[in-house]
Amino acid sequence: MKLKNFSQVVPVLGLQWGDEGKGKGVARIANTLGKNDLIVRFQGGNNAGHTIYNAGKAYVFHLIPSAVFGQAQMHMGAGMVINPAALLQEASEIPKNFSFLPRLSISPHAVLTMPTHLILDSISEQKKGKKKIGSTGKGISPAYTDLTARKALRVGDIAYADFKKRYEALCTEHKKILRDQYGYDTNNAEFRKKEKDFFAGINFIKKLKKVESVKIVEEVLNKKGNVVAEGAQGTLLDVRFGHYPYVTSSHTIAGGVATGLGLNPSLVGESIGVMKAYVTKVGEGPFPTELGGEKSAVWCRDKKVADEKARFPNPNPNSKDDFEQGVALRRKGSEIGATTGRLRRTGWLDLPLVKYAIDINNSTKVILTKLDVLDGFKKIKVCTHYTRDGKKINDIPFDLAKDKVTPVYKSFPVWKGSLTSYGRKLPLEAINYIKYLEKKLNVDIIYVGNGPEEHHVVEKYW
Ligand code: GDP
Ligand code: IMO
Ligand code: MG
Repeated sequence: MKLKNFSQVVPVLGLQWGDEGKGKGVARIANTLGKNDLIVRFQGGNNAGHTIYNAGKAYVFHLIPSAVFGQAQMHMGAGMVINPAALLQEASEIPKNFSFLPRLSISPHAVLTMPTHLILDSISEQKKGKKKIGSTGKGISPAYTDLTARKALRVGDIAYADFKKRYEALCTEHKKILRDQYGYDTNNAEFRKKEKDFFAGINFIKKLKKVESVKIVEEVLNKKGNVVAEGAQGTLLDVRFGHYPYVTSSHTIAGGVATGLGLNPSLVGESIGVMKAYVTKVGEGPFPTELGGEKSAVWCRDKKVADEKARFPNPNPNSKDDFEQGVALRRKGSEIGATTGRLRRTGWLDLPLVKYAIDINNSTKVILTKLDVLDGFKKIKVCTHYTRDGKKINDIPFDLAKDKVTPVYKSFPVWKGSLTSYGRKLPLEAINYIKYLEKKLNVDIIYVGNGPEEHHVVEKYW
């Protein structure tokens, strides 16, 4: 797919709870771009896990934009939180024959995640017990909290002589909280190792090109280059417009592109939404169309991949038990967290929630991913609307966790055999499903994913 006539930043955003396949979508666009174009991340940190394939091998990117295997410039924007150790690790895992460092830059405004942030994140989650959010434990919330509390360390601070002193001061503050509130003593070998890795990462960042996000973006736009803003997480995880408090700590929506890069909002164009043909969610919080409901939520919270494999060696996608159908979806779609290794909760596509996301982001184009995962189901369902007390409701309740709704479904028959075997000519059942979604959501589905790799897509012809 070529981006044509775009003079604005094109956000590529998740329309659900993350892991929709944004990495692959961005990489596919990036592969058509050249060295005068730019892929930027504008929010989030290494809580993201974006999988892309290159020559048949999977790579998961957490901080570096999904354009390592292309030619475009890459920028880690002002709205991000950067874990220096994780960045160094990620960069060192990229095969040496890909020259990406000269193409990579970072904003001096990006916030640094400190070793104490990681511990604060995990330990405060543990203490919440059943009320936990299910964070990735990457220190994202404590790092953004320090930003809004006006004491965070940022990439630009590294260059100043008092950096170490400021680090020590903030670290001491965190350690006191850890000791007094959580009874955790950081005087241990594990913490010292984390600090050592942190400073190794700081040395790596010192060598990276620093540039203001707004500058690099405007430079590219002025030369009529393409700028793609790669979203992390998904709309329903946005700190303000997601299902609070079961959210991440940044603005994952199109509005976040402007604030995350310091841009005038008029420079942000219509977005491309990425949507899975079903829904997954990692972590806690309401999920109206979850297969198996509460049972699935608890199972995915408490069980490991091996437990599930032992209990369901061959889950039946057409089981009468919808919980087992959810397990089948998880198995077929390899729905295991790319960052955390957790079981992703699974459910049917929820149109009211996707519509909400499309409206918030002004997504006129949509990439539909993982349609092939529905192979083997005799029929699949889509939630068309919700009811409460038997009556249709038009709005999404303010608090879906407290205000229970009942999803109403429409069923669709599924094609025979594997979707991939139909090649570029999709079976009628798939086309009917896609056309239904386009009509209901009033969007253009620009391509459909029919497998995990780069070439596993069917461009629009229907
Ligand atoms: P992201 O966080 O939105 O970039 O998505 P993740 O990488 O966390 O999860 C998406 C997963 O689905 C990855 O393992 C991708 O390789 C895989 N994937 C993406 N598109 C498709 C598709 O169309 N079919 C299949 N089977 N897998 C896909
Ligand atoms: P990508 O970019 C899916 C979820 C966590 C948790 C909540 C808060 O790969 O789509 P945090 O660590 O951010 O404080 O966790 O958000 N979460 C994600 N879920 N994909 C992600 O990123 C996520 N990043 C965070 O599971 O529920
Ligand atoms: Mg992911």
